[in-house]
Amino acid sequence: MEPGFWHDKWQLQQIGFHQADINPFLVRHWQQLNLPQGSKVFVPLCGKSLDMEFIAAQGHEVLGCELSALAVQQFFETAGTEAHIETRAEHVHHSAKGIELVQGDFFTLPEELVAGCEGFYDRAALIAWPAEMRIDYAKKLAALIPSGARGLLVTLDYPQEALSGPPFAVSPDWVQTHLGPWFEVTPLECQDVLAENPRFVKKEVPWLNEAAFLLVRK
Ligand SMILES: C[S@@+](CC[C@H](N)C(=O)[O-])C[C@H]1O[C@@H](n2cnc3c(N)ncnc32)[C@H](O)[C@@H]1O
Repeated sequence: MEPGFWHDKWQLQQIGFHQADINPFLVRHWQQLNLPQGSKVFVPLCGKSLDMEFIAAQGHEVLGCELSALAVQQFFETAGTEAHIETRAEHVHHSAKGIELVQGDFFTLPEELVAGCEGFYDRAALIAWPAEMRIDYAKKLAALIPSGARGLLVTLDYPQEALSGPPFAVSPDWVQTHLGPWFEVTPLECQDVLAENPRFVKKEVPWLNEAAFLLVRK
């Protein structure tokens, strides 16, 4: 999706993707990444997700990237913290209590910024892109993530013709085929979450699978 789409969504607070609680797949599978205490975790397209607080509470530094200044502002407001703000080239860095959110475009993030990350977490980032843009996202993610880094990917899959995204349907086959060249992919869990997603129920989407994968950058 183009930046204007997301800026409008944040302006209108049409942020159905935002979760009031920590993602259960994150809670169940984070320990499997086995990341060292103090290591840094990259969270692309982070929104104002509370999942970042969970990751920080596990003893990690967090480096998020988010297009919307409103999202970044709301994240720190909710956390009850005032962030230190620094502009570097076209990105604005907001940091407080081990969480640094880089406000600006993911596609122009410098590789050096992410080079120190040993972990990453993608929930509702890969699935935010329509198929034709998703490959570019995957390529940039692979370029940013250093070799050996371990990540948790959470996807949604459903019959795409039943609903127009975002979120877009991403199948386990898509993950293996398109991320497999860069990452070792291990499926961890897949669950039908239709009953918990009224928008999908209302549109009579017949099934909705949420899945978690462990990714290790080759
Ligand atoms: C579906 S939301 C998911 C947010 C978050 N991961 C979560 O779980 O709540 C996608 C987010 O990506 C952000 N975004 C979209 N395009 C982006 C880009 N080019 N660079 C950085 N962030 C972007 C949007 O503003 C939006 O907050």
